[in-house]
Amino acid sequence: MTLTEEINRLKKEKDAVILAHYYAEPEVQAVADYVGDSFYLSRVAVGLAEQTIVFCGVSFMGESAKILNPGKTVLMPDLRADCPMAHMADAGTIRRMREKYEDLAVVCYINSTAELKKYSDVCVTSANAVEIVKALPNRNIFFIPDKNLAHYVAEQVPEKHFVFNEGYCPVHEELQLRELAEAKAMHPDAEVLSHPECREEVLKQSDYIGSTSGIIQYAARSAGREFIVCTEKGVRWKLEKDNPGKKFYFTKTEPVCRDMKLNTLEKLLHVLKTGENAVEVDQELRELSKKPLERMLELAKQEKKL
Ligand code: 13P
Ligand code: SF4
Repeated sequence: MTLTEEINRLKKEKDAVILAHYYAEPEVQAVADYVGDSFYLSRVAVGLAEQTIVFCGVSFMGESAKILNPGKTVLMPDLRADCPMAHMADAGTIRRMREKYEDLAVVCYINSTAELKKYSDVCVTSANAVEIVKALPNRNIFFIPDKNLAHYVAEQVPEKHFVFNEGYCPVHEELQLRELAEAKAMHPDAEVLSHPECREEVLKQSDYIGSTSGIIQYAARSAGREFIVCTEKGVRWKLEKDNPGKKFYFTKTEPVCRDMKLNTLEKLLHVLKTGENAVEVDQELRELSKKPLERMLELAKQEKKL
């Protein structure tokens, strides 16, 4: 029996469902029941019939799934898979900003620890940040932890005053403008599709800016045949699978999130077999950090209806 066959057999036996982010390895995405961006995965995690969720992503994803589904078992193939950006803000600064600004909303990118969510008013993902910030009644926005996404949102919502934080995703921050220029010179007809975690100078050179799902949807709809993709290289698998006639290029130094790659089929099988690596969030933290996550899901639902 192959690893995939064994995982599929055990999944049924253990009443488990597998969620994977687009940055996971192709073979992990292929065995997952649900694959998507952070917003889709957080939405899908609510209301699943199975008792166990195996989350092939990084810790803030597993943690959010547990916070939203406290009665379920959430397993991660490797508990070391963490997002460095998730830690790049602090409670002291949030407190100071609340003292300094009246009418302030602390907007927390979902790529953050539960401890940071606990002090925040609402969560956002790259798929819904602009709409959610627009829908907030507050004039002042303290956006944590990602400065790049914050600047991108601030540009789309000029009517609000933004306070920025110094966090960033090391994978997207390192994507070099020089390498993008080289890729454009090699593929002059290609459209540039970028994730808003990239630096502003990269975003300025882009034809489309959006979440991983946004990038995937744009590429499918576009009449273009060639694309330079400025995000983690894991998205290539879905892009190529959905668009056999189109070509996808990355910068010479392909962006790789080492944490996402810690999710392997072997480890996935191991946690399914043993039930090891359960994500735990203590009750008080869970209840406090659930509020901004639920507010995000609620606001996103309302915005869709408008
Ligand atoms: P999205 O999939 O929500 O675009 O997020 C990218 C990311 O960095 C996830 O860690
Ligand atoms: Fe975090 Fe960046 Fe990896 Fe996403 S790609 S999980 S933001 S380090």
